[in-house]
Amino acid sequence: MTETNAITIRALRKVYKATGGKKLRHLSLPGGSFMPGGTGGMPRPSAHDVIALDSLDLDIRQGEFFGLLGPNGAGKSTTIGVLTTRIVPTSGTATVAGSDVGTQAVSVRQRIGVVPQQPNADRSLNVIENLQFHAAYFGIPVAAATKRAQELCETLGLSDKLNVKLNEMSGGQQQRLMIVRALMHEPDVLFLDEPTVGLDPQARLGLWEILRGLHAQGRTIVMTTHYMDEADRLCDRLAIIDRGKLLALDTPRALKDKAPGGTLLELVLDGDALGAAEKVKAIDGLTRVEASGTVLQAYSGTGGRLLPAMIEAAEQSGRRVKDIHLLPPSLETLFVSLTGRKLG
Ligand SMILES: Nc1ncnc2c1ncn2[C@@H]1O[C@H](COP(=O)(O)OP(=O)(O)O)[C@@H](O)[C@H]1O
Ligand SMILES: [Mg+2]
Repeated sequence: MTETNAITIRALRKVYKATGGKKLRHLSLPGGSFMPGGTGGMPRPSAHDVIALDSLDLDIRQGEFFGLLGPNGAGKSTTIGVLTTRIVPTSGTATVAGSDVGTQAVSVRQRIGVVPQQPNADRSLNVIENLQFHAAYFGIPVAAATKRAQELCETLGLSDKLNVKLNEMSGGQQQRLMIVRALMHEPDVLFLDEPTVGLDPQARLGLWEILRGLHAQGRTIVMTTHYMDEADRLCDRLAIIDRGKLLALDTPRALKDKAPGGTLLELVLDGDALGAAEKVKAIDGLTRVEASGTVLQAYSGTGGRLLPAMIEAAEQSGRRVKDIHLLPPSLETLFVSLTGRKLG
């Protein structure tokens, strides 16, 4: 039922038109005429158009910590952009906290908090000024805003930074400020676009704790990431997307159980792997043996136990093994099996 959904996405499509035609339309020639062929009529589909979202359907429940997982260019930021009313979709609908992103954008914006990938607070203001400024935009009186800012900064470990300007803060501190800012107006749904990119490991873990805490308070969180461990550890449910399409949707546990064929064994050889693949195919217990350039891959249901046999077979084919990778069943192996590519 849509009533219990925090977010409902139906047949959402976003096509970024190739820029060439658009630019021509605005280019006036001497004499005031326009480039011929650039004006009027329906926009023509072009081979250079980018289909960023391709008929996406998704329901995100209230209180859920939901992850959009996919490689660069998958359409994650475009999805967030549409849901936060920043990007107008080409077709399809989306509702957030009961309001339509197209026709009720103002009420959507009042119910959401947005943490962008790049901290975008005003660098000439200090922390408290930034937060008061943001609160004013939402009609929160300055006294109430100051109190709330102080409380949130305390919770997120920024209470000693209230009077500090942004360029004197670390990346992790700035990212935490973005979260404080997003929470100032008590939003129902919090959006975070790749919140831990560029953070050092310690800041990353700190941010995970903060997000877990917000989730425990019952807030709906939608986070994009291309880090499968982050998605795995934080999210209740994940949508794996690639090239604007939904590939899989479930809990991290169920998704990992769907990862086929067990452990992925991979050898990097000193030359073409085709001959080695033929020999490896004869080993009992290895499935889906494939050669791609110098890389030889096979799946095993018994962890790494067949690795020595695989190495021996490769060496019998006249190749030397330069590197070995072993990948237990994971979101990564599921992604490889769904797309034939690595997540990143
Ligand atoms: N403003 C834009 N104009 C043209 N193409 C865009 C624009 N924004 C994103 N794209 C393209 O749309 C696709 C999806 O992008 P994006 O949603 O940013 O992916 P992600 O956030 O998963 O990396 C990519 O191919 C990207 O190059
Ligand atoms: Mg992005």
